[in-house]
Amino acid sequence: MLKKKKYNVAIVGATGAVGKEMINLLEERKFPVESLRLFASERSAGESMTFMNQDLVVELLQEDVFNGIDIALFSAGEKISLQYAPIAARAGTVVIDNSSAFRMNPDVPLVVPEVNPDAVLKHNGIIANPNCSTIQMVVALKPLHDKAKIKRIVVTTFQSVSGKGKEAMDELFEQTKSLLSFGDVKVEVFPHQIAFNCIPHIDAFLDNAYTKEEVKMVDETKKIMEDDSLRITATTVRVPVYIGHSESVNIETEEHLSANEARAILSSAPGVLVYDDPGRNIYPVPVDAAGKDEVFVGRIREDESIPNGLNLWIVADNLRKGAATNAVQIAEILIRHTQKR
Ligand code: A2P
Repeated sequence: MLKKKKYNVAIVGATGAVGKEMINLLEERKFPVESLRLFASERSAGESMTFMNQDLVVELLQEDVFNGIDIALFSAGEKISLQYAPIAARAGTVVIDNSSAFRMNPDVPLVVPEVNPDAVLKHNGIIANPNCSTIQMVVALKPLHDKAKIKRIVVTTFQSVSGKGKEAMDELFEQTKSLLSFGDVKVEVFPHQIAFNCIPHIDAFLDNAYTKEEVKMVDETKKIMEDDSLRITATTVRVPVYIGHSESVNIETEEHLSANEARAILSSAPGVLVYDDPGRNIYPVPVDAAGKDEVFVGRIREDESIPNGLNLWIVADNLRKGAATNAVQIAEILIRHTQKR
C-alpha cells in the first residue's frame, strides 16, 4: 500500500449489523478517508447511507470494483470473503476480513491491536479480524498471561443475537413481540426459539461434539497469543440480548496472581476497563457495554478450588470491539506503518 495522506476505503457488507458500525467508526475515529465506497448484494444496492453528512449510494459487489481501493473492510460472511478477498488483494487492496474464512491460514495475520499489533506487518494482502468472543477474551487475558503465564482457560460465553447479523436481531424482536401478545413463534434464523431462551449452539456442530464457534475460540486464542501450549475449552451460548457478549472465564496460571494484583494489572491494561465493586452492584453488563469500544472486566476473584486460579466476567460490544472497532484499529496500524516508511 502506498504512503498517502488519505485513503480510498471500501466496506463490503456495508448494510449489515457490523458494516453499519464500520461506517460509524471510520467517522468517529476520524480515519483519513479520501473516498468511501459501500458494497452489498442486489438486495440493498441503490439504497443510500450517510457518512460524514454525505449520502452514499450502496453499490452491488462485483469482481472488478476494487481497482484504486487501498483498504477494504469485509463483513459479508465467509462465502463472500472466500470469493472476493483474494480478488481484492490481487488488485492491490489490503483486505481486513471479519469472517472466519482466512483466520487460521498461516499466511494471514490474525490481529488484536492490544495483543499482537506487529503481526499486521506480515500481511500478504489479507488481514483477519478474529471472532468477536475471542477478541474480548484475549484483550483481557493477555496482560495476565504476560504477568503469570496462563496454563489453562475454561470459558462459557453468553452471546448476543447481533453476532449473527441483522436478520437474527429481527428474529428476536419478532418472537418477543409475538410471545408478549400470545402469538405463535416463527423460528428461522436460530435452531430454537431465542426469545426468553438460551441456546448452547453457535455455528455448526463438529465430530468432536464441540461447535465451530467453540473451536474458533480455542484455535484463534493460541494464534493471537502466539502460544500453542495454552489449554483452552469453551462452551458458547446464544442469549436473548441484542448487543454485547458476556463471558465467564476461569484461568489457571503458572505463577500465583491474587485478585487484587489481577485488578491492578487490568486497570492499566490497554483497551480494558475494570468494573468491579460487588458491594455497590458494580460489574459489567452488556447493556452498559453496548456502544463502547472497551472490554469491561469484573467479578475478579480467586478460584478457591486450585492454588493458582482466577475467575473473571468479561463483557464487550461484539459489533464494535468484537468486530468493527478492531477492524478499524487494524487499518489505523496499517496506515501508521505506511506513513513511517
Ligand atoms: P444485503 O443488505 O444486500 O443483504 P449481516 O451479517 O448483518 O446479516 O449483514 C450481512 C452483510 O453482507 C449485508 O451488508 C449484506 O448485504 C451483505 N451481503 C450478503 N450477501 C452478499 C452478497 N452476495 N454480495 C454482497 N454483499 C452481501
